[in-house]
Amino acid sequence: MLSNLKPQPADKILHITQLFRADPRAEKVDLGVGVYKDATGHTPVMRAVRAAEKRLAETQPTKAYTALAGDPAYLLAMAKLVLGRDRPLDRIAAAATPGGTGALHQALELARAATPGATLWIPEPTWPNHPSIARHLGIAHRGYRYFDTETGEVDEAGLLADLAGVAEGDIVLLHGCCHNPTGANPTAALWDRIADLLLERKAVALVDIAYQGFGDGIEEDAAATRLLVSRLPEVLIAASCSKNFGLYRDRAGIVFAVAADSAARDLAQDNLAALNRVNYSFAPDHGARIVTMILEDKDLRADWEAELRDVRDGMLALREQLAAALRTATNSDRFDFVARHRGMFSRLGLTQAEVLRLRAEFAIYMVDDSRFNVAGLNAESVPRLASAVAEVLREATVA
Ligand SMILES: Cc1ncc(COP(=O)(O)O)c(C=O)c1O
Repeated sequence: MLSNLKPQPADKILHITQLFRADPRAEKVDLGVGVYKDATGHTPVMRAVRAAEKRLAETQPTKAYTALAGDPAYLLAMAKLVLGRDRPLDRIAAAATPGGTGALHQALELARAATPGATLWIPEPTWPNHPSIARHLGIAHRGYRYFDTETGEVDEAGLLADLAGVAEGDIVLLHGCCHNPTGANPTAALWDRIADLLLERKAVALVDIAYQGFGDGIEEDAAATRLLVSRLPEVLIAASCSKNFGLYRDRAGIVFAVAADSAARDLAQDNLAALNRVNYSFAPDHGARIVTMILEDKDLRADWEAELRDVRDGMLALREQLAAALRTATNSDRFDFVARHRGMFSRLGLTQAEVLRLRAEFAIYMVDDSRFNVAGLNAESVPRLASAVAEVLREATVA
């Protein structure tokens, strides 16, 4: 039986990590996988997480099962974090999931059960797991233009033109903030136009918010998601605590289904719990409980917010430094967008051949499409990356 299986394509991003590990050069720089790293290249356990885990170990009375949809306190704390003070609680169904990936999976399964024929619209480019999950679930999907490689900004005209073709009931996937892989994000005015369009086309928004707090701030990064919830009758949201709480391997995530009214909310809640049951019965609780403790405790929360602010400010400073270094090294403003982008990634707009040269000649590893992890840089590697990019471009011009 097992010999009938087909080999699976290697994950392109995780493959870069393997190549990086196998590279013996001491000066190598890993800008591949999407994990936050501090200036020493380490992915720390956040202070508040450590404190909450200690407290939990000492006080947790049981590890018996929680509710099928997850601990109600977690669902409420996350609704406050993602959807803010004015959240329409009577319209919100929610379920704990294994990370943001689990939330995306459950959101798409819910959508497939509700409207089996709907098409999922995905930005081009996007996180590669989006089309993979859709394909796995047998959901038809197509791309909409998102990124202008010339300017390094969102292709507003292309996006609006493509989304004008969305059919009633279709699902439109949007990155709530910190677009992965480009780092380019819609302006507030464009978010408004997107909301208008979805309302007019009677489409459902699916917001993937995996980097809340990594862009401009915890509240600022949730603004687009909250706008869509305030304007549209139905919104699906997949949120991840992997990055902003540094809980990658603990798999804390949540899916929200914002319904048009409370009766539809009850149906969605019932279905989300049933989907959890058939997929994994109960979502992991440890990370979710840590998140709840941090969000609900004044001191832990203040410390988490302070550390998250440092993480964000560090990435913003690296963006500024890299944009300035590239400006000097290439004697052009071609890469100024790096400073305007937000989140952990930007795309440099290099060809695959140029990316491969960075890897072979300079031991600098980024994804083939020239996406790089800003947090993989530090004061020493910023000028090295800038001069390597200039070198690769200079030789491309000469050739
Ligand atoms: C855009 C996007 N969505 C969702 C996720 C899911 O993260 P996780 O399943 O680790 O919580 C990621 C992780 O890299 C991501 O980049």
